[in-house]
Amino acid sequence: MTIEAHSGERWGTRLGLILAMAGNAVGLGNFLRFPVQAAQNGGGTFMIPYFISFLLLGIPLMWVEWGIGRYGGRYGYGTVPGMFDSMWKNKIAKYIGVIGIVMPLVVFIYYTYAVSWMAAFSFFSVVGDYFGQTTVDQMRGYLVDYQNIFDSAIHPGWVTLLFFIATLGFVTWILSRGLSGGIEKLALIGLPVLFVFAFILMIRVLTLPPTPLGSVSEGLNFIWNPEWGKVLDAKVWLAAAGQMFFTLSLGMGTIHCYASFLTEKDDVALTGLATGATNEFAEIVLGGTVAIPAAVVFFGVEGATAIANGGTYDLGIVAMSVVFQELPGPAFWGQLTGFFWFALLFIAGITSSVALASPAMAFMQEGFGFKRRSVAVGVGLVALMIGMLHVLLYTKGWYAEWDYWAGTFGLVIFATIEIIIFSFIFGVDRGWKELHNGADIRIPTVYRVVIKWITPAFLLILLGWWTVTAAVPQLLMTNLTDQSQVMWRWGARLMIVAMLAVGLWLIKLAWDRRDAANLQRGG
Ligand code: PHE
Repeated sequence: MTIEAHSGERWGTRLGLILAMAGNAVGLGNFLRFPVQAAQNGGGTFMIPYFISFLLLGIPLMWVEWGIGRYGGRYGYGTVPGMFDSMWKNKIAKYIGVIGIVMPLVVFIYYTYAVSWMAAFSFFSVVGDYFGQTTVDQMRGYLVDYQNIFDSAIHPGWVTLLFFIATLGFVTWILSRGLSGGIEKLALIGLPVLFVFAFILMIRVLTLPPTPLGSVSEGLNFIWNPEWGKVLDAKVWLAAAGQMFFTLSLGMGTIHCYASFLTEKDDVALTGLATGATNEFAEIVLGGTVAIPAAVVFFGVEGATAIANGGTYDLGIVAMSVVFQELPGPAFWGQLTGFFWFALLFIAGITSSVALASPAMAFMQEGFGFKRRSVAVGVGLVALMIGMLHVLLYTKGWYAEWDYWAGTFGLVIFATIEIIIFSFIFGVDRGWKELHNGADIRIPTVYRVVIKWITPAFLLILLGWWTVTAAVPQLLMTNLTDQSQVMWRWGARLMIVAMLAVGLWLIKLAWDRRDAANLQRGG
């Protein structure tokens, strides 16, 4: 057994761990993606499959991932290839784990690019740069101009690039400071600020006077009143489950990585549940009470739904930026409110970005013995180089393609594989014991059945359904309106495949290196 391979770092305090894990989970998904998914899928109607997904996918997978992570950490592994290898004595196990390094890296790159827009829009809010673009169409034009670096009507392309480089630089700096000195500290400072900003915004929205188009209570009604007739629509279930994965950071490899820095004596049962619950509070209560009710007040339920159908950024960036200009009171208050919103998004996003980079960081350190600082700089540079493709090709669908395959579909595949390994190969009996090592609570026994049968079955059905109804049309691009993107989107896919191939090769190298070291040591 080689233990010394893990970087040897540990979380500083339990509070720090909880906040770091919550920072991992609470992200753009809570404040941008959730309201859009809810609005697109009938508001309250969406919440029913959403809650069921929390109980049957979210909570059990959370425990499973914390358990796998802490278990692998004991064998000196911070990433999924080694974890699968220690749970399943089969040569292929570590190679399957490649998704747990490459997918988070893929998401890291485009996600951090989106986080950099939040930095830009915080700045644009403070200086009132977009004030004057008062309609949704104008504001959409402003955003598109920002995202398309070849369009300099409003901002020259280098502004976009500059914010991206600065954001990546910041992430690299945090990563280079390590686990407790970087990631944990960021969460200890960032999360309280995030919650304060979210409360301020929530109160601002809840006290908005009604307009001829809508009111706050109509907005809240929209999210909380289900239309029972539509609850059985498969599309709503797929969206709800997909959101549950994304928002809890499940099926990626980042929770495993964070949990690998725990010892056997540390609790995972209660702490895992607590971070899941924190994320749901941030999502439903805070995320649900800002963008949708605000949009309903100024655009009505129909208007808000139509905006949400335009995409994730149409509600959170475009519509909200119009709202800030229409708030009662002097323009300065609107600018300040805009700053709170985009700074909130930036903080939420940056604590998720560092999590997404963590598996690649840990893998290069433990697999090849590189120093943390050099790995951080390396990861930052790779992300900048590959990220340039997103900056240059955003309008060609490069970003959307990555978001679909890595950020929507990949998660479910990964989760299906890991729960099968956990429940059937590692064995649910050992797994159950493992989860209770050092535990502060007893997990309700019904979850044994859920983890063994219900979650895997739910996942398999979901995956089958998804493949047929969504993934196949997406793969063949039959549903694409702009056919000129086809070639570019194939390029984006090939790039992911190439990254997976490099990942497999690195896993092989790391294991060869490990074997050679073990041999030398005489066993
Ligand atoms: N959960 C994060 C969010 O809600 C995104 C994320 C997914 C982060 C997977 C890490 C891993 O934005």
